[in-house]
Amino acid sequence: MGYLLKTITASYLIDGAEDEETDAARIVVYEDEELQQIVFDTGRSGSVRGMATRIHIELKPRQRYYWKVQVWDRMGRCTESDTAWFETGLLSGGFRGQSITPDLDPSVQPIYIKSFTLEQPVKTARLYITCLGVYEAFLNGKRIGDEVLAPGITAYNHYIQYQTFDVSDMLLEGKNLLEVRAGDGWYKGMYGYRQNEKYRQGKKFELLADLYVNGACALSSDCSWKVRKSNIIMSDIYNGEFRDDTVDEKIYFPVREGLLDKRLVKERLGVPVKQKEIISPVDIIRTPAGEIVLDMGQNMVGWVSFFCREKVGHKISLEYGEVLQNGCFYNENYRTAKARFDYISDGAEKKISASLCFFGFRYVRLSGFTEVHIEDFQGEVVYSDLNRTGEIRTGNEMLNQLISNILWSQKGNFLDIPTDCPQRDEKLGWTGDAQIFSGTACLNMDCYAFFRKYLNDIALEQEDTGGLVPQVVPSVGRNERTSTAWGDAALIIPWKMYRYYGDESILEEQYDSMKGWIDYIDHQNLVNGTNPGLWQNGFHYGDWLALDGGCYHMPTGGTDIYYISSAFFCYSVEIIAKTAEILGKEEDYKRYSNKAAEVRAAIQNEYFTVNGNLCIDTQTAYIIALEFGIVENEVQRELIKKRFIERIRKDGYTLKTGFVGTPLILNALSDCGRSDLAYKLLLGNEYPGWLYPVTLGATTMWERWNALNPDGSMSDTGMNSLNHYANGSVQEWMYCHMAGICPKEDGAGFSKVVIKPEIHPGIGWLDLKLQTMAGGYEIFWKIKEDCKLYFRCRIPFGACADIMLPSAEGNISVNGIEGTYHEGVICGLRNGVHEIEYRLRKDYRAYYSLSDSVKELVSNPKIKGFLYDKVPMLCHTDKAEIQNMTLPEMSKLPFFLGIGNRLGLEELVLKEIESYIKEIPK
Ligand code: BGC
Repeated sequence: MGYLLKTITASYLIDGAEDEETDAARIVVYEDEELQQIVFDTGRSGSVRGMATRIHIELKPRQRYYWKVQVWDRMGRCTESDTAWFETGLLSGGFRGQSITPDLDPSVQPIYIKSFTLEQPVKTARLYITCLGVYEAFLNGKRIGDEVLAPGITAYNHYIQYQTFDVSDMLLEGKNLLEVRAGDGWYKGMYGYRQNEKYRQGKKFELLADLYVNGACALSSDCSWKVRKSNIIMSDIYNGEFRDDTVDEKIYFPVREGLLDKRLVKERLGVPVKQKEIISPVDIIRTPAGEIVLDMGQNMVGWVSFFCREKVGHKISLEYGEVLQNGCFYNENYRTAKARFDYISDGAEKKISASLCFFGFRYVRLSGFTEVHIEDFQGEVVYSDLNRTGEIRTGNEMLNQLISNILWSQKGNFLDIPTDCPQRDEKLGWTGDAQIFSGTACLNMDCYAFFRKYLNDIALEQEDTGGLVPQVVPSVGRNERTSTAWGDAALIIPWKMYRYYGDESILEEQYDSMKGWIDYIDHQNLVNGTNPGLWQNGFHYGDWLALDGGCYHMPTGGTDIYYISSAFFCYSVEIIAKTAEILGKEEDYKRYSNKAAEVRAAIQNEYFTVNGNLCIDTQTAYIIALEFGIVENEVQRELIKKRFIERIRKDGYTLKTGFVGTPLILNALSDCGRSDLAYKLLLGNEYPGWLYPVTLGATTMWERWNALNPDGSMSDTGMNSLNHYANGSVQEWMYCHMAGICPKEDGAGFSKVVIKPEIHPGIGWLDLKLQTMAGGYEIFWKIKEDCKLYFRCRIPFGACADIMLPSAEGNISVNGIEGTYHEGVICGLRNGVHEIEYRLRKDYRAYYSLSDSVKELVSNPKIKGFLYDKVPMLCHTDKAEIQNMTLPEMSKLPFFLGIGNRLGLEELVLKEIESYIKEIPK
């Protein structure tokens, strides 16, 4: 209701049908509930798709539209859907009301008040309302709607969203009272970079409202409204809230006309933010410092509500933190954010909570409470109202906890905009973080509307910056800074959305923004006089937080930043070329395809040797060479793959990657045919790795691989969030490789998929449920004890799946019927549940080989015994750089190092070792 309808698409799903295909479909849109006035009709047609059919209507303001779908099967039988609806907002007519501002010091948090009389019975009523700051509205004492922190955060200098509420059942014939409580929120508070006054957004509260009753405007904001001082004395996104319920001044102050330009006020795009879940604390801790601390058992975002039984005038406080240190309360990693809720009781026994701010926390320090009863407290979990679409469970409990941590970091950081972290003095829409995590996010939850708003703001910001995509969007007053991989959010996010949701309109809507970013890079090359085929100028965050760089204070990692920026340039140009092709923009398609080839060639010239080797020997360098299509030639690809695997081995099979490499490393390993290594990295529980935080009890993703030291102490306070989703981007690999489901090139939105599971004994089984635009998929696989693979999948109506099963040869039973399928490839499975079982070839798991490092070999006790027996000198080679070598490499070490040939690693011995280890599974 009341959304900004830039492009309208209609989608539907068919469920429970036995047939495999429909013959035709029809979508009809009506203007009236009786379904008499047709305003749009596709007609019965074979080309009406279930996914994202374009609807063209000349929209009328404040109009509810009704729509239906009819489908015909091949026998000509017709089935009809229930009626659905959508409703427009005020559209171009805009608000009748005037923006009003309290005639009070701007620091006073106001409650706007308007009493009014309605002469007629109310049939329908809508309140259109927005505010500079954040607000909650009440009609006749009752809260309107269930969203919090409205109107949300937007690029305020471009637009402010208004909300539409159906208040038909809340209004009375006769006297009514409308009250709107406002708080500083993102707009007016200390939100932005490091609480700097300079980056305060707006200075004044303003309110704009129209109330329509039975189709006519019955009330508007104007100077007849009044304000009183709110019981919320202070509210701030970083610092929290101070609420004093003894404030009950019945003193009314006038309002003045505000300065808000009504042309900036637009229909909402953002998904409402709501209190989505409630959790109970698991413990009340008395700390060594004598504090009382509530443990929610889960790092969460929102606030704690409590039942207050304190006497009038009694003050209590709640302070929020993510972790205990030495058993005591701690929140130094919040930096300047005070993150507290202070409350003065009016003596009434009632439920109390913050409402105009939010906190990221697991622990809450309670002060001033006369008595503390655990059952009086609740964690109210707040995030954008997004539906869960993907779920993965496996036979590995640690991995399941990681999956849960990723989901909780998504919940906590998908609060109107995608943020880096929800607790310290940032809570900012960092574009890089959003880009990295967008794939996982879109599979875990339906994020279409959520990202659409974010991308809309990116595009608006670009209007002021000549195409530059700010590092943070909304840019909160600093739109001049950007970086590669951050700005590329403008292309990568819409592209992921298109691939996973199948709706081209997002590409269309964002096309100029995508182009804008490419143009910006071209322009930078022009003004800096640098090679136009690369991007070798300006500031970049590089492989942010990678472990192979030297600089602690600027952790851009060990991979040349301009190689990274050039590689992203190539990848983004590739995306826009594909986008132009999909949108039928022939000219652009040609232009950008050529450009992509030019950039690729320039990167080859600059960063590769004549023989095809990459000059930068880091994990991330190889990863992006492989994943961004920089190395196309098959022979060269094989070389780069080999070098990449060697690099990882030399790094002791540990991650060295940062924001650029981490999201892609497991994909790169799978592409190298080394899912065994991908699993090894994923399932390792030592630092650095995804499961290390799990061993320390993490319930969300951490910003740094070593946010906490093994003894539980914080490794750093400067930049150390315990709720940062970036490294959670690994879950996209779990969907696309562990479960193995991926939309085909021509199957965006999962209408056509490949299911190619990569199995591993380390997880034993996997269970996936994925709701897509093409319907619900299910995948289950289990490695059974008798070395058989049981595989089951459910393909939704109208979709089509090619299954590629691992280590399959000979007979495979599909739905109980034995058949021979070449290399386990079964093409074109459709609607329904399919069960497959077969005996796995021996190579379904990895075996040791001479290309493994010595460290890896001796980690297996059997091999260790054998090796030390065969080559006794080996036990003297305990230095890391030597341990990371392979045996053949070691055998070539110069004599003077004291090992080498003296080890007795002659060709023959190596052969003997090889034939022994290749029979031992990893
Ligand atoms: C944020 C990051 C962000 C980075 C820029 C940090 O303070 O929390 O996640 O991307 O700055 O490098």
